[in-house]
Amino acid sequence: MRVLVIGSGGREHALCWRLARCPSVRALYACPGNPGMAAVATCLEAGEGRPEDFLRVAERVQADLTVVGPEAPLVAGVADCFRAAGRLIVAPSRQAARLEGSKIFAKQFMQRAGIPTARFRIAASEAEALDALNHFGVPVVLKADGLAAGKGVVVARTRQQAEQAAADLLSGRLVGPAGARLVVEECLEGEEASFIVLSDGRRVFAFECTQDHKPVGDGDTGPNTGGMGAYCDGRILSPAQRGEVLERIVLPAIRTMEVEGAPFTGFLYAGLMLTADGPRVLEFNVRMGDPEAQPLMHTLEGDLAETLASAARGALEENALRWNGQSSVCVVLASEGYPGTPRTGLPISGIERAEARGAVVFHAGTRRTDGELVTAGGRVLGVTASADHLPGAIERAYAAVREIHFEGLHYRRDIGRKGLKRW
Ligand code: AMP
Ligand code: GLY
Repeated sequence: MRVLVIGSGGREHALCWRLARCPSVRALYACPGNPGMAAVATCLEAGEGRPEDFLRVAERVQADLTVVGPEAPLVAGVADCFRAAGRLIVAPSRQAARLEGSKIFAKQFMQRAGIPTARFRIAASEAEALDALNHFGVPVVLKADGLAAGKGVVVARTRQQAEQAAADLLSGRLVGPAGARLVVEECLEGEEASFIVLSDGRRVFAFECTQDHKPVGDGDTGPNTGGMGAYCDGRILSPAQRGEVLERIVLPAIRTMEVEGAPFTGFLYAGLMLTADGPRVLEFNVRMGDPEAQPLMHTLEGDLAETLASAARGALEENALRWNGQSSVCVVLASEGYPGTPRTGLPISGIERAEARGAVVFHAGTRRTDGELVTAGGRVLGVTASADHLPGAIERAYAAVREIHFEGLHYRRDIGRKGLKRW
């Protein structure tokens, strides 16, 4: 197969790294890709990044299968554009992508499907927001309806914070038009987990459970980021919890999407809160997680390309992929200033030494200038290592992290630590 991967971050590098090892893959392309992906794939310009731009690239390289990383092209309808042209793509339609593109759609969908989630109200004005705040009290969570690159959610601890957040979101100050309507919901307590499946619209293959680390600082302190690291571990969920997530959340979601005429093909990501009353959905994403993809791809066995193609054709081979049973840890190395405005253009060294320690270094925000590898974004690299047990994976990942240098580099020292209590 000739396979095209759309995207340019750590998640897409991880997908490419895994696809490059599949016997069924004869040629691999990335659009637009990054210097890490360039080691295993041919990188191609994305034009303006509209669905038809990606289709033109797929046609030029005669891609037999296209895999999409980020949400923006999905919400823009890249899957519909490819299907109309008769090209195989593993991605949800624009309609199905509303599960991520609109928080209001997602909440109302969960209500219809009977999927456990936080109680909520919708607010399109400050008066409605205040009404909802009176109803829920504090702490309370306010969410912009539209896509906001992770900046549209405020967990307010005081009434004043909540009122401020409502005003900032609704006025457009915080996330622009994405905040014109809000979901206001009860604040849930517990540990968060990411449960990701691949679906062909009916059947699912469930990946191992992972946990992301969103706040920038150790011990979950400081502002939220796109994710400072993730780990995959067989003990995050008990077998009973895993069954519950499948039976009460994933399968009802897939079934209801089909019944409602928007069957879900692609990666469905349920962001969960593991509460004392069982798992609750915080959000759905319609794509692989980033950085969850890095540990997942590092520990996945089987021909991923074949399985993705089977899902895209609507006939998922459910048993062709396997998790190798190892724990895996991805530590994100970030630029000075991130999650604010990052300093970029700084030379990176030590990647080979890190990989000599048994890790894989996935690129996220890097570029080459005159042959030299330099930083080019907030999240720069995802250093990923696996071992038979979680403590070993953590040790191996951090041994590799310490080999890498660029000015102002920072990272969390506790990725995976919350999983150690289960070992
Ligand atoms: P979301 O984009 O909806 O996943 O929200 C981003 C983050 O906000 C989540 O990863 C949680 O840490 C937090 N969050 C969202 N909804 C809730 C909730 N109902 N209760 C507590 N925390 C929440
Ligand atoms: N790791 C969070 C996300 O991919 O949305």
